[in-house]
Amino acid sequence: MNQSIITIHSSHSQQQLVIDPPKAGLTLQGNLRVPGDKSISHRALMLGAIAQGKTRIQGGLLGEDPRSTARCLRAMGASISELNPQQVEVEGVGNGNLQEPDAVLDAGNSGTTVRLMLGLLASSPQRFFVISGDESLRSRPMSRVVEPLKQMGAQIWGRQNNSRAPLAIQGQSLQAIDYTSPIASAQVKSCILLAGLMTEGRTTVTEPSLSRDHSERMLAAFGADIATDAETKSVTIQGKPTLKGQTIVVPGDISSAAFWLVAAMIVPDSELVIENVGINPTRTGILDALERMEADIAIEDQTLIAGEPVANLRVRSCSLKGAEIGGNLIPRLIDEIPIIAVAAVFAQGRTLIKDAAELRVKESDRIAVMASQLTKMGAKVTERSDGLEIVGGGNLTGTEIEAYNDHRVAMSFAIAALNAQGKTTINGAQAAAISYPDFFENLQQICQINSL
Ligand code: S3P
Repeated sequence: MNQSIITIHSSHSQQQLVIDPPKAGLTLQGNLRVPGDKSISHRALMLGAIAQGKTRIQGGLLGEDPRSTARCLRAMGASISELNPQQVEVEGVGNGNLQEPDAVLDAGNSGTTVRLMLGLLASSPQRFFVISGDESLRSRPMSRVVEPLKQMGAQIWGRQNNSRAPLAIQGQSLQAIDYTSPIASAQVKSCILLAGLMTEGRTTVTEPSLSRDHSERMLAAFGADIATDAETKSVTIQGKPTLKGQTIVVPGDISSAAFWLVAAMIVPDSELVIENVGINPTRTGILDALERMEADIAIEDQTLIAGEPVANLRVRSCSLKGAEIGGNLIPRLIDEIPIIAVAAVFAQGRTLIKDAAELRVKESDRIAVMASQLTKMGAKVTERSDGLEIVGGGNLTGTEIEAYNDHRVAMSFAIAALNAQGKTTINGAQAAAISYPDFFENLQQICQINSL
């Protein structure tokens, strides 16, 4: 029976979602597809906009974040058809030809939009830009991209010593640099590579451990001269290439699939197949972490689509064990830590998540928010400066949870609620639409209630 366990109350732009699982008999069953990868969708829109000719994006995400990227690019002269998952058409302006917008660029809630775009704006001579976003985005650190861009000669001003949006940029011809980033961040790496596109000579970025490499793969596909060195973890781009419009097929987002992986594990007698998920090795830290926790996941029907590995993931309920998660694994699962914390609550023993201080500057302070909200449900969680310590094996009790306008927090608590006693209310559940507009519909579709 597919009885509804979810109710939504809306007032103004806020959504309050109530999840009321039955006392017994709930399982999750079926096949589902998650929306297109958010990181790849942003990059396809941006590279399409600065390429020559037409780019076709198939399977792209329709979430609020790529909409922000599309809105900014349209304001600078790129023609982008309405976003839809079948096909989006982008008519590029050509490398270096983004126009000066006549209003502030609005990046909404999207860190990827503002940080990657800064590379394009800073290197566009004789054009002036102002870029800003919502309250969360305006509180997030931008020095990580402003600093290296300034080393290239960029002119950027902003609040708090040029470290917070709104940021004003006077585009310039920049100088190529060889930059060693103190953090493993794909946004930092990609920003510099995009600035390098319009800069004479060779621009190199080295990172402490490998972050997602979608920019490198896609820049190569669009015709840029780009070389990576796995040993030194560096990537070099030759400036001033002609980029040619491409057809990009976007795989399902493993960061969205992660919610279903954990859901099936913690709800007894469940089995789900998540189809067409991108399993680029720079993103599969979640699979490695869950394997350490003794999860039951099979990778099936693996193929390569448009330069990115893709597979179906079959997951079954299992008993999980606590594990230590840190070091080089962190950049490969950075967005999945909220849902890993939920898995840890249901695992036997202790889970330690460390080296993840970056979580404090995501859409919310995810260390503080996950610790406080899981504790409200009765979990044993200790907040650390760089992560979380969770003693699993406990029972959760439904209560009122705040999503803090963070999509991954909202979705993580919807999954935790499935295995809690009683009702969980999530305030601000509309945040899920940032990366997964149909999340709650999909959740309802896979819920089966077996009457005893
Ligand atoms: C992203 C990189 C990561 C990730 C974000 C998307 C990207 O951020 O958390 O959701 O598309 O480049 P950092 O580069 O700050 O680690």
